[in-house]
Amino acid sequence: MNTTTEECIFKSDMLSGKTAIVTGASRGIGAAIARRLCETGAQVVVCSRSLEGVTQTADSLKDEGYTVHAVAADIAQKADVERLIEETLTNFTQIDILVNNAGITRDTLLMRLKDEDWEAVLQTNLTGTMYCTREVLRPMIRQKSGRIINISSVIGLIGNVGQASYAAAKAGIIGLTKTTAKEVGTRGITVNAIAPGFITTDMTAEIPEEFQNKLLELIPLQNFGTPEDVADTVCFLASTAAGYITGQTFQVDGGMVM
Ligand SMILES: NC(=O)c1ccc[n+]([C@@H]2O[C@H](COP(=O)([O-])OP(=O)(O)OC[C@H]3O[C@@H](n4cnc5c(N)ncnc54)[C@H](OP(=O)(O)O)[C@@H]3O)[C@@H](O)[C@H]2O)c1
Repeated sequence: MNTTTEECIFKSDMLSGKTAIVTGASRGIGAAIARRLCETGAQVVVCSRSLEGVTQTADSLKDEGYTVHAVAADIAQKADVERLIEETLTNFTQIDILVNNAGITRDTLLMRLKDEDWEAVLQTNLTGTMYCTREVLRPMIRQKSGRIINISSVIGLIGNVGQASYAAAKAGIIGLTKTTAKEVGTRGITVNAIAPGFITTDMTAEIPEEFQNKLLELIPLQNFGTPEDVADTVCFLASTAAGYITGQTFQVDGGMVM
């Protein structure tokens, strides 16, 4: 039995007046994060490569009365990231929260790993996170506040067979998180990472059932996580309750890695 609920338990005005960007928000964890940020009062800019996917996320939230803006942007492209930030500032004048969630996998054993697959995973998961972070720093420094939340993975902590590129990128995100936290701490900006374990989304749907059952045995809480489990941690880190926390990595993994 899952211990969390899809229902939002935070106050609906917790992030009132705040503007958030969520990358990779057309589905899965990113879509759940966008929803939670809306439910806690933020206005949200959602991005993904596919305009159709991200517009779908935005439209369903707008239908419920939330303020959401969709941008099609590939975070692996610097020019797209610059446009994403510019469009957000034009629409909402400031950026309070950045959630670097977009990510991809190209799994294979290292011996068989193609250069282009390594490069694609590093470029999206790590360089894309750096582009978005670097681009929001100026407006956040100007306003003397900001919250940056990077979605890493437990795979970045422990590695995994067939995931060399993904593990390297997700470990890199943790180093990037700590360094950015040290560089901008005096500017009122906190930077933290979340390392989810096994969360049920399209990304994990392809894992064979037999292997999923083996994974379950490694999880003390005995169930897979939901996108909302991650989204709730994002909301906490974006809230004033987390004002004295920076440079940390929070595992949301049911105890899988400890
Ligand atoms: N699911 C898990 O068990 C798990 C565990 C640990 C960490 N994570 C991390 O959590 C994040 C979300 O995972 P998920 O399971 O929700 O994945 P998902 O269902 O595959 O969704 C990935 C999202 O990222 C977007 N995206 C991919 N590449 C992009 C790019 N270059 N620019 C902009 N958007 C891009 C996708 O939309 P488009 O295809 O339209 O661009 C989609 O919205 C990822 O960083 C993943 O590594 C997931």
